[in-house]
Amino acid sequence: MTNGGRGERLVQRATELSGVLKMPSDKSIGHRALIANAIASGQARIRLAAPGADLRSTISCLQALGVQLGVMESPTGIEVNVSGSSDLPGGDRLLDCGNSATSMRLLAGVATARSGSTVLDGDASLRRRPMERVAVPLRAMGAKISTSFAGSAPIRIDGGRPLRGMRHRLPVASAQLLAAVVFAALNADGETEIEVPSSVRDHTERLLAWMGAPIRRVGDRRTLLASPTRLTARSIDVPGDPSSAAAWMVAAAIHPNARLRLVGLALNPSRLAVVDLLREMGASIRVEPAQLDGDGPEPVGDVVSKGGARLHRVHLAGPRVAALIDELPLVGVLMAAADGTSELRDASELRLKESDRIATTVAGLDAIGARVDELRDGWRVGPGRPRTASIKTHGDHRTAIAFAIAAVAGVAGDVTLDDASCVGVSYPTFWDDLAAAAGMTGASV
Ligand code: S3P
Repeated sequence: MTNGGRGERLVQRATELSGVLKMPSDKSIGHRALIANAIASGQARIRLAAPGADLRSTISCLQALGVQLGVMESPTGIEVNVSGSSDLPGGDRLLDCGNSATSMRLLAGVATARSGSTVLDGDASLRRRPMERVAVPLRAMGAKISTSFAGSAPIRIDGGRPLRGMRHRLPVASAQLLAAVVFAALNADGETEIEVPSSVRDHTERLLAWMGAPIRRVGDRRTLLASPTRLTARSIDVPGDPSSAAAWMVAAAIHPNARLRLVGLALNPSRLAVVDLLREMGASIRVEPAQLDGDGPEPVGDVVSKGGARLHRVHLAGPRVAALIDELPLVGVLMAAADGTSELRDASELRLKESDRIATTVAGLDAIGARVDELRDGWRVGPGRPRTASIKTHGDHRTAIAFAIAAVAGVAGDVTLDDASCVGVSYPTFWDDLAAAAGMTGASV
């Protein structure tokens, strides 16, 4: 692997993959832990291993909101000391969310309760992403909120208006949308009832219940009841990100000579659909929950993934697709290594991510030599003849990681990524982990 021009990187097949890797802290839990503690009573310490740019965007937005945060950097991560307050300082504030839609959507829910105006903006990619889906329910609760002509960022919220609880059915299976409504519900008058598709990750309700919010699930369907409340600050070591770990689960499953242990992961079942998929396709993968889960809101443990098994084709559709949403570019690579033609459907949401991930994944799969057809809501892919390829990442971290894994695992020939640095959005230590797993520590990478 060498570093070429500006951000460019060549990635080659590893002769073997082995070792123990510790992932960056989970992005979803990290955003929620920072924001919830910022609006809680008391002090908390949040430990984040190797936080990516997205989590740093949430930290800087909270600082811009006047939240008291002490940030201590160490070689392995950061420790954030938060002195929370349920009354955020007033005044007009501009928040730069960078590339992070999670920061923008969650903070929109929080901003409804503060006095003064809050403008949330971001980079060119974030400005293309849909924000009316958040504005609509917040308006229904009484918030004054406007988006751009295209229904995207910048978003402006004129806060301090009374909010009413409401009954709401999430129109899209989006955990960000759910979190925005729940954060607003904490300051609403009366109860908010939200009907949630079962595939939506449940970090918000786990965390807020752990911090003392009267959040309940009712019935078999996932209906949440959230009431106005004050949260109690709680310290947390945010466990490893299963979506980052998925890169290594997939790499190990494809590579004939691989054994990787991924330690300290969040083992929330709503994030482990990729493990089930790998098993279904025939891969050797084991989940080892920690004996003592500690005191956090989420189960934690290791995943051990091994190579050498034959991978079978798969047809993916329906609710499980939403549960795999961040892993789908990697799933495309996995499908290209399976023994027949696989299909992904019901994945139109992918077109609304940091890039149009149906288009970017299909273009990448085509470039590495897989047989691939783009579908309106997914793709059809089968194995081809691995080719040397140049991959356009479109600045999308998941695309960059997926095609680096394609090269390392040998589904592709040599791969040159046009922008290797974008992995830092979620996984700043990715290249170090790749060097360690491929036994190249100390080599030129
Ligand atoms: C996230 C939810 C998902 C995911 C994103 C993080 C979250 O987005 O793609 O990376 O933390 O809530 P959607 O909820 O919009 O599907």
